[in-house]
Amino acid sequence: MKVLLIGSGGREHALAWKLVQSDLVTELTCAPGNAGMAEIAAVAPVAADDLIGILALVQSLQIDFVVVGPEQPLALGLVDMLQETGVKVFGPTQIAAQLEASKAFTKDLCRRYNIPTADYGVFTDLTEAKAFLKTMTPPYVLKADGLAAGKGVVLPETLSEAEAELEEFFSGKFGEASNTVVIEEFMEGEEVSFFAICDGKTAVPLIGAQDHKRAFDGDKGPNTGGMGAYSPAPVFSEADRETVMETIILPTLHGMEKDGHPFTGVLFAGLMMTQEGPKLIEYNCRFGDPECQVLMRRMQSDLMELFMAAEAGELDKAPAPAWFDDTVVNIVLATKGYPGAYEKGSAIKGIDAANDMDGVVVFHAGTKSEDGQLLASGGRVLNVTAQAGTVRAAVDAAYKAIDEAIDWPEGFCRRDIAKAAL
Ligand code: AMP
Ligand code: GLY
Repeated sequence: MKVLLIGSGGREHALAWKLVQSDLVTELTCAPGNAGMAEIAAVAPVAADDLIGILALVQSLQIDFVVVGPEQPLALGLVDMLQETGVKVFGPTQIAAQLEASKAFTKDLCRRYNIPTADYGVFTDLTEAKAFLKTMTPPYVLKADGLAAGKGVVLPETLSEAEAELEEFFSGKFGEASNTVVIEEFMEGEEVSFFAICDGKTAVPLIGAQDHKRAFDGDKGPNTGGMGAYSPAPVFSEADRETVMETIILPTLHGMEKDGHPFTGVLFAGLMMTQEGPKLIEYNCRFGDPECQVLMRRMQSDLMELFMAAEAGELDKAPAPAWFDDTVVNIVLATKGYPGAYEKGSAIKGIDAANDMDGVVVFHAGTKSEDGQLLASGGRVLNVTAQAGTVRAAVDAAYKAIDEAIDWPEGFCRRDIAKAAL
């Protein structure tokens, strides 16, 4: 089967690494891909949000099956477009992708189908929003309804700060994304990322992982896309996984089907493990980055087989995916300055030496190859993953690869990934 994978991040390098191990994949092309993906698959210079370019590529390469990594092409309707032309694709339609693209859509679905989540109100009017705010207790949770590159959530400590934020939201702080604002009750607990593969009718559970969203050690600094991840997460037990399937994932799928827009693809539930049990913070309709990298390293089963079963609506016949018991950690190396402004073009050395170390696999994100040199070309640049029998051994192996093999003075990483599990 000729497969096209859309995307260029660490998540997509990990998906590509897993897909090329499948006997079902005869040829893999990545668009646009990165320098690491170019070492294991073909790459084509078509941007992930260039729907017309992707369609042309699918036709010229006679692609059999498309896998979509990031959310933008899903929200733009790539899946709908490919389905109309008869191409098989793994991912949700534009309407189903509302689960990520609109927080109000998801909250209303939760309310209608009794899915545990924070209490909330949805507003398009500043005066009404301010009145609701006064009924809440601090810290306040304000969210732009639409996609805001992970930045559309603020947690002000005081009412006056929250009111000022609301005014900014409604004056276009996040463009159209904040024309509608969700105000939520604050939930206390540990956060877990959980994933399930869905075929519109049913879902197969994958596993949970913990992400580190802040830029610096001790959860300090600005929010990022994610600075590291590990799995298994001790705060997320097998019983929790079953509870989440029963109370959150399956009711969501059944609700989506009943409402006339069945969800096919990866459902990524951002969960808060509260005193009253797991509650939904938000959905994403794609794999997490950097969580996907640890999931792919822990997965024993054939990923392509799972994607094909989901696309065909036959997940009920697919065997449950098998997993390595080992811990996998992923430490993100980012360019100094990220998530703010940073320089591009610094040289990176030592990736091969890192990959030669026991249990270590390096996935690329923002990298490019120029005149035989590997250069940084983005904010998050490398993902150093390590697999071992204990959390301690996995953490030590990953940091050893960073400290002793990789030579990139312009990069930085957090030094406390997986600390909570140690
Ligand atoms: P979201 O983009 O909805 O995942 O929100 C970003 C981050 O804000 C989450 O990862 C949480 O750390 C935090 N957050 C969002 N909603 C809540 C909530 N209702 N209670 C506590 N923290 C929240
Ligand atoms: N790591 C969180 C995300 O992918 O949204």
